[in-house]
Amino acid sequence: MNEIKIFSPATVANVSCGFDVLGFCLDSVGDEMVIRKVDKKGIRITHISGFDLPYETEQNVAGVSALAMYDTLNLDFGFEIEIYKNIKPGSGIGSSAASAVGSVFGMNELLGRPFNKTQLTEFAIKGEAIASKCEHADNLAPALFGGFTLVKTINPLQILEIPTPKDLYATVIHPQIEIKTSEARAVLPEKVKLQDAITQWANVGSFVHGLHTSDFNLLKESLHDVIVEPHRSKLIPHFNDVKNASLKAGALGCGISGSGPSIFSLCKGVESAKNVKVAIENIYKKTNIDFDIHVSKINTEGVKILK
Ligand code: HSE
Repeated sequence: MNEIKIFSPATVANVSCGFDVLGFCLDSVGDEMVIRKVDKKGIRITHISGFDLPYETEQNVAGVSALAMYDTLNLDFGFEIEIYKNIKPGSGIGSSAASAVGSVFGMNELLGRPFNKTQLTEFAIKGEAIASKCEHADNLAPALFGGFTLVKTINPLQILEIPTPKDLYATVIHPQIEIKTSEARAVLPEKVKLQDAITQWANVGSFVHGLHTSDFNLLKESLHDVIVEPHRSKLIPHFNDVKNASLKAGALGCGISGSGPSIFSLCKGVESAKNVKVAIENIYKKTNIDFDIHVSKINTEGVKILK
């Protein structure tokens, strides 16, 4: 096999209480990529469509993660990468993570899987870092592993896979404005109050317990962010209106997806997720901001080969 086409999914990082550690994988949105083994050594990006991104390997997220893997191997051949981008950069649903993951996953498949998913995440962190200017893996891990993941530590990289309750759905609205992760990180305080930290770690612990036990009530009680959301929500037009409408329509919780501007809601059952979609649409239709909105099952598979 010399060529492979893959689907690299969008992801929701942070999940309210789990800033920089929790994430989950979506299945309704993602990029496609073709990875090809070629005689010429090195990594080349040969096609980009969807959005304007650099072709220079060292400046392209998919190129940098591919190089991080390639440089550990002593190969007498190289790879070409084609990127068919559907996830808008700066959308808050893991656009750079999808690119970073897609190239290393595809290369690994063509090489006969010499690396496990945690090792692939290590390479992908290098690509993600050029987009967000810091090393974090809360979008990368769910894109690679699928489902919910918790990044326990970055160094050494330790990723925990958390079970996904059946019947859990996400509604994600993407207002068509761009918020750069680096800018959304710049608005965060360096210090937090002890009481806020206590609330946050109680919530992340109970949220993870709720995922393990499929306790939807506990998930609902835990989906709160007292540390990051108060600062970042100011960057997202109509965030509070969307959140109120989503909760009123029956969502278990609603928060900023990654660094925004996308907003996710988690819901019990697809009907509830569709009701939440209508309620959120009604808020955003009254604005002059274009938006996409999706209902998605939680994707427990992650990045995959397309037949
Ligand atoms: N945890 C990251 C953040 C995800 O919120 O800054 C965005 O890439």
